Amino acid sequence: MTNPTAQIEVDALDCVIEHKPILSGVSFRTDEARLGVIGRNGSGKSTLARLMAGLITPSAGSVRVAGVDVARDRKAALGAVGILFQNPDHQIIFPTVAEELAFGLRQQGRAKDVADAEVRTTLDGFGKAHWYDASIQTLSQGQRQLVCLMAILAMRPQVLILDEPFAGLDIPTRMQLSRYLGRSQAVLVHVTHDPQDLAGYDRVLWLDQGQLRHDGPAADVLERFTQEMTRIGGGDDISDLAG
Ligand SMILES: Nc1ncnc2c1ncn2[C@@H]1O[C@H](COP(=O)(O)OP(=O)(O)OP(=O)(O)O)[C@@H](O)[C@H]1O
Ligand SMILES: [Mg+2]
Repeated sequence: MTNPTAQIEVDALDCVIEHKPILSGVSFRTDEARLGVIGRNGSGKSTLARLMAGLITPSAGSVRVAGVDVARDRKAALGAVGILFQNPDHQIIFPTVAEELAFGLRQQGRAKDVADAEVRTTLDGFGKAHWYDASIQTLSQGQRQLVCLMAILAMRPQVLILDEPFAGLDIPTRMQLSRYLGRSQAVLVHVTHDPQDLAGYDRVLWLDQGQLRHDGPAADVLERFTQEMTRIGGGDDISDLAG
């Protein structure tokens, strides 16, 4: 990366939902261009992703992305950070692909014709020009996920948060997407339960029951994580299932 990277500053973050602590005392500060977040089902990864995008307000602590307090300054946050949800159906609001892609651009203040031109360029870039008028209902889950990703990439955020981006995608789509993301100028925060997704990342945070268990170079954290997951998976105690 030649550009200076956007800083992410997460400070003493707590998130309590319905009296239940979901995240406790999470702090980190990054300059890396490629950050991974790994953890078991229910460890709080998606909650952290939403907090980092400013979609939920922390119970205590703060998140700043490129200097923007993302929960407080929603307008500035739109340019600073984009998020791909784990479930595309939680993200999509419009009936057609073009409308869905145009929405975020319009929110960012682009004129209608400018937004439309950017929608077409983005679709072209993915070889999906023929999806312009497609009804989103007629697309498969993986295809809908790609629509969401294109919608976010079109907005060119400084930081891109991807919550299990590869989960519903076939191998060629995953490989193409991986290459595309590899070329992206955005800082990537990739949330996953699968260590293989994070090979080559600069740094990985391991989230365990709502707390940071390890934070360090990807190879080191992923090795510890894999060992621990294999140890747990080898046991017969199913009370441990998914945390
Ligand atoms: N809106 C909510 N209301 C109540 N509990 C919630 C809510 N959102 C999350 N939780 C709880 O917070 C915990 C963490 O959930 P989260 O979705 O962040 O985990 P995750 O690490 O993303 O899991 P997965 O790997 O399954 O996607 C879970 O115990 C979940 O039940
Ligand atoms: Mg999740």
